[in-house]
Amino acid sequence: MTKPKVFVTRIIRDKGLDLVKEFCDAEIWTDELPPDRNTLLKKVRGMEGILCLLTDRIDAAVLDAAGSPLKVISNHAVGFDNIVVAEATARRIPVGNTPGILTDATADFAFALMLAAARRLTEAERYLRDGKWKTWGPSTLLGLDFVGRTLGLVGFGRIGRAMAKRANGFDLRVIYYDPACPAAPELNASPVDSLDALLGEADFVSIHTPLTEQTRHLVNRDFLAKMKPNAVLINTARGPIVNQQDLYEALKAGRIFAAALDVTDPEPLPPDSPLLTLENCLIAPHIASASAHTRDMMAYLAAQNLIAGLKGERLPHCVNPEVYDAR
Ligand code: DGY
Repeated sequence: MTKPKVFVTRIIRDKGLDLVKEFCDAEIWTDELPPDRNTLLKKVRGMEGILCLLTDRIDAAVLDAAGSPLKVISNHAVGFDNIVVAEATARRIPVGNTPGILTDATADFAFALMLAAARRLTEAERYLRDGKWKTWGPSTLLGLDFVGRTLGLVGFGRIGRAMAKRANGFDLRVIYYDPACPAAPELNASPVDSLDALLGEADFVSIHTPLTEQTRHLVNRDFLAKMKPNAVLINTARGPIVNQQDLYEALKAGRIFAAALDVTDPEPLPPDSPLLTLENCLIAPHIASASAHTRDMMAYLAAQNLIAGLKGERLPHCVNPEVYDAR
């Protein structure tokens, strides 16, 4: 029996790749860097499935290049702003993602970023490595406290809620702004009715919303001006939610205490980005979900979505279920 042809845009963890290879005739892109645009357009031609990463833009041109054989797109990520889902839906192609499995790893990392930025961890390590540690000093590298302070979550989906759980253990008060989410007394977290209310109260502001046209540059000059003077911004969602020039100016002027970013715009962040000149800006290379188990399971879920789509079954995690209504 011939196996369905699929293009996998990078080497993913064996737990997923083995499944893909067992069921599919897979062409796998083995370079460290993603295929460039022209290569992607060539490689998808005639494929029945595409297993892609957040670094691959899947839009009308890619779908047209793949043509009528294409039955499924499986994204190896929970976020899917790299895919023009409306174009896939118009062609009745289901799009899969990997929700749930990376919630804890991402919240752990967001929390680690918050602690590190507030306690100036990366700055302190640089200070030591640069030979600046001469003695214990009463006022050396002073940071912020947590007990009794307020964590404000912008977005209260799975990862926002996991942040709330962690914050309870640190005796932080938790508030959140997410009009789509009901109250969550079991998480000891209170909703506020506007972003302004959240910014006026939060000592730590952590972003947990998807990137959409509404959230692009949500964190801009105005947003930053409304944050408390000693507040910390944490972003593990998507880089373009933050206007980086505005953030740079706020940090440089000491308008807020610090920022900790796992995501930037663009990615990778160019080495000459002004943000990299600031001591009060901690930046990681988009690794919040990078634990071995989490990445194994992301690969596995992505493979399961791909295979379900190839079999004509409903994807276990589908971002455009309306494709099934239309059938
Ligand atoms: C996602 O899955 O959307 C993360 O950003 C990468 O793990």
